[in-house]
Amino acid sequence: MSADGFSGGPPPGVRPDWTIDQGWEAYSQAEHDVWITLYERQARVLQNRACDEFLRGLDALDLHRTGIPDFNRINEELQRLTGWSVVAVPGLVPDDVFFDHLANRRFPAGQFIRKPHELDYLQEPDVFHDVFGHVPMLTDPVFADYMQAYGKGGQRALSLGRLANLARLYWYTVEFGLMATPAGLRIYGAGIVSSRTESIFALEDPSPNRIGFDLERVMRTPYRIDDFQQVYFVIPSIQTLQEVTLRDFSALYERLASAGDLGIAQIVEGDQVLTRGTQAYAEAGGRMRT
Ligand code: PHE
Ligand code: FE
Repeated sequence: MSADGFSGGPPPGVRPDWTIDQGWEAYSQAEHDVWITLYERQARVLQNRACDEFLRGLDALDLHRTGIPDFNRINEELQRLTGWSVVAVPGLVPDDVFFDHLANRRFPAGQFIRKPHELDYLQEPDVFHDVFGHVPMLTDPVFADYMQAYGKGGQRALSLGRLANLARLYWYTVEFGLMATPAGLRIYGAGIVSSRTESIFALEDPSPNRIGFDLERVMRTPYRIDDFQQVYFVIPSIQTLQEVTLRDFSALYERLASAGDLGIAQIVEGDQVLTRGTQAYAEAGGRMRT
């Protein structure tokens, strides 16, 4: 993830491209144990919930039960599979830095891990969200290309002043995307797969809307950063996602500049509605009380 509001360069001790050493040797056993707890919970909950591409990637990288993975080890396999690598960063980095890493097939990952009392929710992406959540999908060649294209598209959106729209594409695909498969609805979004409660909520709760993915529609839809989503968008396949984002967004950006935003839970004409959500969870005040 990236964040606005940074001025000047990186903090002391951080390289100009905002990377740091992972410092794998310095993790404590208690920190490795947090990873193991999270890993074991998610490996269980994601059977028949995560898409095949994710589960295959999880296996290929052997993000095993012995603790926080060493990025050097993951990178050997990731390089071989899709030419991507994981680089450590201290936390959120500026947008232009984030896009530059993606455009060069580097995924910036938080180095720190959440505390034992934060297992279910934390504000900033940590190594579990970033590595367990994001990196398995980067072993899929088509998704790997999509992420790189997104990095280049991000640089472009920045210069065109349309980043707010493009960021919604990232949010509703890379972070919170669902996929329709012959076996049923599956998760591929990192924000979902790294959360036990949202893995269940996103697929099974009657509250959120689930709507067929449409690029322009997604770019007009605001999102929640502090709670479960009120709407999830469903792609037919990674291939389709890649195909619909390949074309030049210039004309789309022009339309978006005059088209207003939609309501977060609004259903509009032309929507392919898979679930018309009750919105009961959001209306009751949310905050992950399932
Ligand atoms: N095709 C987009 C553009 O012209 C770039 C992009 C590709 C954005 C893939 C997101 C994902 O700006
Ligand atoms: Fe993320």
